[in-house]
Amino acid sequence: RNYKISIIKGDGIGPEIVDEAIKVLNAAAKKCNFELNYKEYLMGGIAIDTTGVPLPQETVDGVLNSDACLFGAIGGEKWDTLPRELRPETGLLKFREEMGVYANLRPAIIYDELVNASTLKPEVITGVDIMIVRELIGGIYFGKPRENDGFKAFNTMVYTKPEIVRIGKTAFELAMKRDKRVCSVDKANVLEVSQLWRDTMNELSKDYPEVTLSHMYVDNAAMQLVRNPKQFDVIVTGNIFGDILSDTASMVVGSIGLLPSASTGDKTAIYEPIHGSAPDIAGMGIANPLATIVSAAMMLRYSLNEEKAADLIEESIKSVLKDGYRTKDLAAYDAKEVLNTSAMGDVIVKY
Ligand code: NAI
Ligand code: MG
Repeated sequence: RNYKISIIKGDGIGPEIVDEAIKVLNAAAKKCNFELNYKEYLMGGIAIDTTGVPLPQETVDGVLNSDACLFGAIGGEKWDTLPRELRPETGLLKFREEMGVYANLRPAIIYDELVNASTLKPEVITGVDIMIVRELIGGIYFGKPRENDGFKAFNTMVYTKPEIVRIGKTAFELAMKRDKRVCSVDKANVLEVSQLWRDTMNELSKDYPEVTLSHMYVDNAAMQLVRNPKQFDVIVTGNIFGDILSDTASMVVGSIGLLPSASTGDKTAIYEPIHGSAPDIAGMGIANPLATIVSAAMMLRYSLNEEKAADLIEESIKSVLKDGYRTKDLAAYDAKEVLNTSAMGDVIVKY
């Protein structure tokens, strides 16, 4: 078996964490007898500096032509003052749109070895296993019109029924393979778009009689995630609510450096950590590469069907944590040895 993997390292800690994921991927591929052929593409700030635009066409074409894409993160202060259309984040949104990756799956699972890393009490979080299904190419991040004239600024939050049905199906299908519970998060008490979202989810749920559908307002959901995260199985929500709630979920399980994601749709899937480019720690060698490494394992499982290699990586991570290896973000929690980014990659390879 031979796979084409497109690699986008991006900015800040992006290159540091992606390099560790490639290390681990190579070890898993060797062990399971398949080959990964990587090709690197530019996006974000580094693409602006090199080519003048945040998303070169070559990147889009290259990723479309690959079996899966592993992505780090983009962005940084250096590019924050550029006009909106030239900013790294605009490149990322356009990239997601071009790839048609409407479903961003963000699992938040607690490792038994890290119960003390959560800001919550062990009894509240032991056994947490949530799948946040975030709509990724619609909603307020993409809605038009949008404008900022220096006095008045506005964005448009828009979803069409087909867009809601599409992400809803993803959530219900996932729930069928899990605990058969979907919680749809919206703000239907004040937003029109959320009312359509809620009505559509109710309609769709008739096709999935085995799945229990509940609804929750997003403000309550933020509170409930921290109060009693175990009440959730699958959460389905729009682009901005999913963005915010998944950062909250990351602290439920211990660190934002732990949460992976898969962005999937009709074309090439993108595997990426949920966090950003962390400019505050870039170049220091202390970033946690686990979110990216678990994203790489998801890539093996979902895009390449290399289940065994994915299992190997996930088991290695558990053993590494069990034996007390931690990066700095988790150093205070049952650490026997605190490793830098690259040493963490090495020890996972070793295991
Ligand atoms: P961030 O997620 O980059 O960082 C938030 C905090 O978490 C920081 O204190 C950072 O040091 C820490 N952190 C993040 N990842 C970590 C890791 N792997 N290990 C240890 N600590 C980690 O979010 P922030 O600071 O709001 O944004 C920074 C830049 O990233 C901005 O330019 C933003 O636009 C961009 N961004 C890019 C995303 C992407 O490429 N998908 C997603 C979110 C933000
Ligand atoms: Mg985010």
